[in-house]
Amino acid sequence: MTKWQKTDWRQQPRIQMPEYGDAAALSGVEDRLSRFPPLVFAGEARTLRAELAEVAAGRAFLLQGGDCAESFAEFSADTIRDTFKVMLQMAMVLTYGAKVPTVKVGRMAGQFAKPRSAPVEVKGDTELPSYRGDIVNGFDFTPEAREPDPQRMLEAYTQAAATLNLLRAFSKGGFADVHRVHAWTLGFTDREEAEQYRDMADRIQDSLDFMSAAGLTGETNHELATVDFYTSHEALLLEYEQALCRVDSTSGQTIAGSGHMIWIGDRTRQPDGAHVTFCKGVSNPIGLKCGPSIEVDDLKRLMATLNPDNLPGRLTLIARFGAGTVGDHLPRLIRAVAEEGAEVVWSCDPMHGNTIKSASGYKTRPFDSVLREVQEFFAVHNAEGTVPGGVHFEMTGKDVTECTGGVRAVTDEDLSDRYHTACDPRLNASQALELAFLVAEELSDRRPQRQAAAG
Ligand code: PEP
Ligand code: CO
Repeated sequence: MTKWQKTDWRQQPRIQMPEYGDAAALSGVEDRLSRFPPLVFAGEARTLRAELAEVAAGRAFLLQGGDCAESFAEFSADTIRDTFKVMLQMAMVLTYGAKVPTVKVGRMAGQFAKPRSAPVEVKGDTELPSYRGDIVNGFDFTPEAREPDPQRMLEAYTQAAATLNLLRAFSKGGFADVHRVHAWTLGFTDREEAEQYRDMADRIQDSLDFMSAAGLTGETNHELATVDFYTSHEALLLEYEQALCRVDSTSGQTIAGSGHMIWIGDRTRQPDGAHVTFCKGVSNPIGLKCGPSIEVDDLKRLMATLNPDNLPGRLTLIARFGAGTVGDHLPRLIRAVAEEGAEVVWSCDPMHGNTIKSASGYKTRPFDSVLREVQEFFAVHNAEGTVPGGVHFEMTGKDVTECTGGVRAVTDEDLSDRYHTACDPRLNASQALELAFLVAEELSDRRPQRQAAAG
């Protein structure tokens, strides 16, 4: 067998990628990107893989979340800070419930390219190419905006670099110090989950006071003062991904330098397709979205292709079936994994199988369906005796009205108030935190089993 090359995908059938009109402009951009520094480093991706191996074994829990699509227009320090802050709060809630560390992975700093269900969008008599994310074309419904423009890759790189710079500062610079667990509640008002969060923060504070009285302070305990926060996105736009590949000098392996973890979407997981061909050769942790149409044989082939050495933490299977149907699909896939003796992390994306059109015309997701899918995911894993390793959410730290329901009951009529997503509807900060508390309940129910797995 010939050695994998980062260009191999170019010989394979590709879907969901733009056709660029100007080949010279495209190769100019690829050339520039290939000379820029990578956004992430091989050692970081290796550490994430080791942490995901702990998730696979039931000794840690994965929280992956962020925008459906990052946008150039919504880019701001406050938006990044708010999403980061809610993820820290959620992670604290999950760790408190599950009594295991939470591995935090943002859909951030590179989540720009989108697969679409239709190649064109029609409004009245006008038909234009679909919007494919800011890294490809513009959202405005004009022929100029919808023309794929390779220059957008450079802007996406710049935005991703600035986002990561801020995330690194927040993670290591004091913002994420657990002693600030109360300060993260600023911005909440007197909502129910804020109460619940404050209550938990009080107990954490008590433990910290005890530790400090016992002489274990923040300075001696670096672990409490900083967090590890990783980035991830769908590896859809392969020209961008290839241009950011770098060879790791320590191992000689190729790493996708665009983000710590990359995933393959439910629409682009053909075993011989361009996306699988690209991802199999890079050493990052890889996610694979598994929707209702995945066949057992495909999954077996994909596991063998993407993780031939069966490294724990290398492959995360992200189940996204839709509430009410998890029991129809997940058990057969769990058995396929067992038959192959494959090491995987199982994560639940309760967003993409639960998108509906509201009466008011907006694309939305009912909070109850999202929760129900998570509960079904846990129930199936409990029944099969396997590890429900994590959750994958589309969410934001902002107070948007895109998903209906939650304790503060966003209604169909409310959707028009603050509907800002350029793509799929996201949980707002309140809904995301509420969900974290409900997931934590599921996790604490499993405690005896998780500890058995750990022992
Ligand atoms: C996504 O995660 O935004 C997405 C498009 O998911 P999927 O491939 O599962 O539909
Ligand atoms: Co989405």
